[in-house]
Amino acid sequence: MTTTQRYTFTDRLPAEHYRAALTADISIGLAATPKTTSPMWFYDALGSKLYEEITRLPEYTAHRSEEGILALCADAVAEFAPWRELVDLGSGASEKTLLLLDSVETLDSYVALDVSASALHGAASRIAGNYPHLDVTALRTDFNQDLGLGDVAGERLIYFSGSTIGNLRPRPRRRFLRRLRSQMRPGDALLLGTDLTRAVPDMIAAYDDSQGLTAAWNLNLLAVLNRELGSGFDPDAFAHQAVWDASAQAIEMRLQSLVDQVVPIPALDREFHFVKGEEWTTETSAKFSPDRVVAELAAAGLGLRNWWTDAERRFGLSLSTVM
Ligand code: AVJ
Repeated sequence: MTTTQRYTFTDRLPAEHYRAALTADISIGLAATPKTTSPMWFYDALGSKLYEEITRLPEYTAHRSEEGILALCADAVAEFAPWRELVDLGSGASEKTLLLLDSVETLDSYVALDVSASALHGAASRIAGNYPHLDVTALRTDFNQDLGLGDVAGERLIYFSGSTIGNLRPRPRRRFLRRLRSQMRPGDALLLGTDLTRAVPDMIAAYDDSQGLTAAWNLNLLAVLNRELGSGFDPDAFAHQAVWDASAQAIEMRLQSLVDQVVPIPALDREFHFVKGEEWTTETSAKFSPDRVVAELAAAGLGLRNWWTDAERRFGLSLSTVM
């Protein structure tokens, strides 16, 4: 833990935890049919940098749409309640957060959570420098286990941006929202970003861009596993795929094995077989209708208080409170 003035960085994913979670997820996920692993492992230093570039791609509109919506609604969010603390779940580069920090003048504390130490520390320490009235806490953690809600007196605004909630499948998503709700107090609110369902070719293009950045990001997972687990994945033996799963209403990113292959993972003390053409799901990214957002919030005991969208209705921001 490093404390400078009013900036605290806490790593709640020490090496052992990170390795334990990684080995558990990979050994279970690659033994499953179909092979399915968590998108959490994309965000090493290179992956976080590539992800930032992805958010600027012409095909990937979610980030820009959300930023545009926030630019227009941040004042309304600010006026909703005298927010004392802003909790940023999966803050990444925190660019959108600045719009909230600039509008919400009642804040005295800002808590940023992310799994990527590099992205988190860079962004949160910069915020601490630029907003000297705020207590800034950077928590490197997994929000599936730890929500990082502080115990400040007063209203807390929890911002879950980027449609990251779509990376959870329906059942874990329900569990996540219920757990979040159970830790919210009356007066707290959830500001939730959700990517909306659009024409299938547009949704696919967002995950299979013409520059191949998303492909490089997906394939970087193999480099992460090779480095962390000593595995022998050959990135040339896999191809990036983005597929629309209509029944799940989700885009799936997959790595397709181009050959029959056996890949040893020494840290797991075992090897995994891939047949030619086999598809390994590396990320699911649900797309929502506005009705579905409201229904899922309600199922968790959260009542919609406000809803904003962009002119093209590509992205939705909801504000909800404990019912
Ligand atoms: C913003 C992290 C949820 O699912 O759209 C971007 C990540 N994946 N391109 C998403 C992502 C492929 C993203 N999240």
